[in-house]
Amino acid sequence: MAAGFERRTWCISYSDRVEALVGAGARLRLGEALAGIEPSVDKVAVVLDSGVPRSLVEPMLAGIREQGIPVSVYVSPGGEKAKSLEAVIELWRWMLGEELTRASVVVAVGGGAVTDSAGFAAATYMRGVRWVTVPTTLLGMADAAVGGKTAVNMAGKNMVGAFHQPRLIVADVEFVETLPEREYRSGLAEVAKHSLIRGGSFYRWLRDSSPLLLRRDMAALTRAVAESVDVKMGVVVQDPREEKGVRAVLNLGHTYAHALEKASGYTIPHGYAVAVGVVVESAAAERIIGTDPAVTAEVVSLVSSLGLPSAPPRSPGCEETIAEIRLDKKRRGDKLLLPLLEDIGRVRLVKLGLEEARKELLAACRRLQEARARG
Ligand SMILES: NC(=O)c1ccc[n+]([C@@H]2O[C@H](COP(=O)([O-])OP(=O)(O)OC[C@H]3O[C@@H](n4cnc5c(N)ncnc54)[C@H](O)[C@@H]3O)[C@@H](O)[C@H]2O)c1
Repeated sequence: MAAGFERRTWCISYSDRVEALVGAGARLRLGEALAGIEPSVDKVAVVLDSGVPRSLVEPMLAGIREQGIPVSVYVSPGGEKAKSLEAVIELWRWMLGEELTRASVVVAVGGGAVTDSAGFAAATYMRGVRWVTVPTTLLGMADAAVGGKTAVNMAGKNMVGAFHQPRLIVADVEFVETLPEREYRSGLAEVAKHSLIRGGSFYRWLRDSSPLLLRRDMAALTRAVAESVDVKMGVVVQDPREEKGVRAVLNLGHTYAHALEKASGYTIPHGYAVAVGVVVESAAAERIIGTDPAVTAEVVSLVSSLGLPSAPPRSPGCEETIAEIRLDKKRRGDKLLLPLLEDIGRVRLVKLGLEEARKELLAACRRLQEARARG
């Protein structure tokens, strides 16, 4: 392993291998990595998030060209605008115009929205071409660009999509230097979630490293991202297409979080909602599976140390938020599969009736609000 870099590989199936390269300057190694892909690459189609500073991307493009691989660049709108079917149609048209073949590789460079939509285009163009993710937000590095879920929004978030594993994930932590603080902290919430799932040395290290992460220290970020990718891929290899329910573990905190995002009209950033979500769901776990309240106290302390909210907001209130759980995607008939923390590093999947889940989450939400009101 090169100094300062983390390189890991997972086998999804006999023919499907995912490699991750994490570190400051990792993007400069993309050309070399593409040149090593078999069968060889005839052309690289870069789908670039318009919000990413071009100066950070040019050296990466030069590195690909140096390997003698032709590169074309398509600039995609950043954020959710990228995740419409219309945006993907435009991208497909461009791919056809560029005469991409099944030997071409799509390289998605951007936040989670751009990697989701470019990944969907790669999954469907000519029945699927190889692709690489180069996440440029912390949320993308720790979560969205990892695991092979691609999608666009249609009558709801991520309603049309495909599972399509990237060959390679290049997470260059230097990209986060230009991220607005809210976007950055939002990504820290997914790192915190992964540390709660894994526990052990990752959790202890994260608990002690929040000052380094809050000042975007590159070495700390490399470890935080590499561990997050490892936790997520460790689950994904067991259930790559979310068929066995195993992957539901990664939804820790997300049942409440998705409801809160929706109830707030998507004004609360995803990571902030996840931070509150892991707290509310840990408090609910106390009553549902007897989790020690000391665990919830640890969760509160972790998310607060990362500059994230740890209590449900006054508005939208608990009732309004919990009412949104009706429409949660993890719903199976009238049952929800809820991942609950038994302890730090131990998640239990519990199948609950929808009404019971709502009642318990509402009670936990109210208890936390009352505790906050008491100061
Ligand atoms: N596929 C998955 O498994 C998965 C998991 C989690 C989230 N997601 C999806 O990810 C999306 C959210 O991703 P996100 O949080 O990365 O936000 P985002 O993709 O919406 O990007 C946020 C903003 O940051 C800008 N940006 C990107 N990189 C930047 C950089 N380096 N410097 C400055 N600005 C930059 C973008 O242009 C955009 O305006 C959602 O659509 C969500 O559904 C997917």
